[in-house]
Amino acid sequence: MEPIIRTEDLKKIYRIGKVDVPALRGVNLIVDEGEFLAVVGPSGCGKSTLLHILGGLTGPSSGRVLVDGNDFRAMSDADRTRFRRHKIGFVFQRFNLLPTLTARDNIALAQSIQGNGFNPRRFEQVAEMLGIAQKLNHRPYALSGGEQQRVAIARAVICEPKILLADEPTGNLDTENSQMVLSMLRTLNRSFRQTILMITHNPEAAAVADRTIRMRDGRVVSA
Ligand SMILES: Nc1ncnc2c1ncn2[C@@H]1O[C@H](COP(=O)(O)OP(=O)(O)O)[C@@H](O)[C@H]1O
Ligand SMILES: [Mg+2]
Repeated sequence: MEPIIRTEDLKKIYRIGKVDVPALRGVNLIVDEGEFLAVVGPSGCGKSTLLHILGGLTGPSSGRVLVDGNDFRAMSDADRTRFRRHKIGFVFQRFNLLPTLTARDNIALAQSIQGNGFNPRRFEQVAEMLGIAQKLNHRPYALSGGEQQRVAIARAVICEPKILLADEPTGNLDTENSQMVLSMLRTLNRSFRQTILMITHNPEAAAVADRTIRMRDGRVVSA
């Protein structure tokens, strides 16, 4: 079976003024559908850059990315945006919820942007699984960090993306909330066969994944 993610000799160089900053120096990565993969490594080693390229948020300087058999390079910007909305969910360290909207509307907005309309059954299922069913009328300021991150995860998976990309999802949470978020990610992975790629500094977070890859200086150094 074709893997859900395949990268071939992926390189990324950021240019700042006249200085080239190599962020990725040739990453070859294969992720199978349904896998829960942790990505670890020191700050600045290229983890977020890799995630952004896999999510189509930025392009590589060279090399190839295939996501679900689709080559981003071959797509127009509009197609890539559509692909991203339908196939990829993002979760960040900062929860990035819209402050004026309730939890329900933050999640529902993602559904309406995708254009498939409101699916009440999926909504209920996801809210229940993430333990936020009682909090849907709250605005972000009235939620704890852990609850905000669970709403952000609900928003990311409401449209049943092929891949969930998470960049240090427990980075702003205390131990108890981290454990709760991690166990929910694991449930998502096990119950819905959600493919997850999660960057983390937290050894406990890496322990819930099926597989860990370690990066250093823009390369994968161990898998
Ligand atoms: N938008 C950017 N412009 C310029 N340099 C960047 C940008 N994003 C990241 N970098 C640089 O690329 C390298 C990798 O960064 P990043 O992917 O954020 O690493 P990590 O997530 O592992 O901390 C670092 O040297 C960082 O300073
Ligand atoms: Mg980062």
